[in-house]
Amino acid sequence: MSEWKSPICLKVILIGNAGVGKSSFMNRYVNYRFTSSYRATIGADFLSKEVNISERPVILQIWDTAGTERFQSLGTPLYRGSHCCMLVFDVTSKASFSALEVWREEFLIQGEPLDSSNFPFIVVGNKTDLSNREVSRRQALHWCERIGAQYFEGSAKEDVDVDKAFLSAAQAALQQYKKHTLENTGHFQITCKQPRETRNNCQC
Ligand code: GTP
Ligand code: MG
Repeated sequence: MSEWKSPICLKVILIGNAGVGKSSFMNRYVNYRFTSSYRATIGADFLSKEVNISERPVILQIWDTAGTERFQSLGTPLYRGSHCCMLVFDVTSKASFSALEVWREEFLIQGEPLDSSNFPFIVVGNKTDLSNREVSRRQALHWCERIGAQYFEGSAKEDVDVDKAFLSAAQAALQQYKKHTLENTGHFQITCKQPRETRNNCQC
């Protein structure tokens, strides 16, 4: 029998320019599906997936946000309470990569994470299946080194390294959860808050 009574909820959020493939990345990971048609996310959406991290069951609550500017005022409530943030760009778009600096700053300002200088970011370069690449792996790694983030690149379309990126996000999120819950209370605590109608078997 597992020593863990019930899974804890970890909030992971995906941000980045419109069209870089945030929804596709999440759908590939959670639903094992990909579609070539583009339906821009309106506001935000989330999906949950239960995974084991070092034999501990956790529920990943993955928040997929809209990249279009008109929804950016939603940032404040959406970003708060995140345990890890995935900054997504499209390797065939230099502009989407350059924009990550601003996305990261906005996240730190609006999300107000505890200990913001050590908040875990995972950078994801998506669409590596395409040949018209504008951002090299080296360039991306260089920026990630500067900001202290982990880097993954892959393809939601061809299912390349999607699981790897989310596993790393889940591990980083669990570390963040443990660090702040233990620091603040001296014991583990369930911190997940889900909308009432979507509650599942985590203790929220
Ligand atoms: P917003 O919701 O507007 O912020 O966009 P998004 O970042 O969620 O992008 P979305 O996942 O909707 O994908 C945009 C387009 O890129 C769609 O037509 C997808 O099919 C396509 N796409 C996503 N991932 C990949 C990929 O890995 N490779 C290729 N070739 N196309 C992809
Ligand atoms: Mg989307």
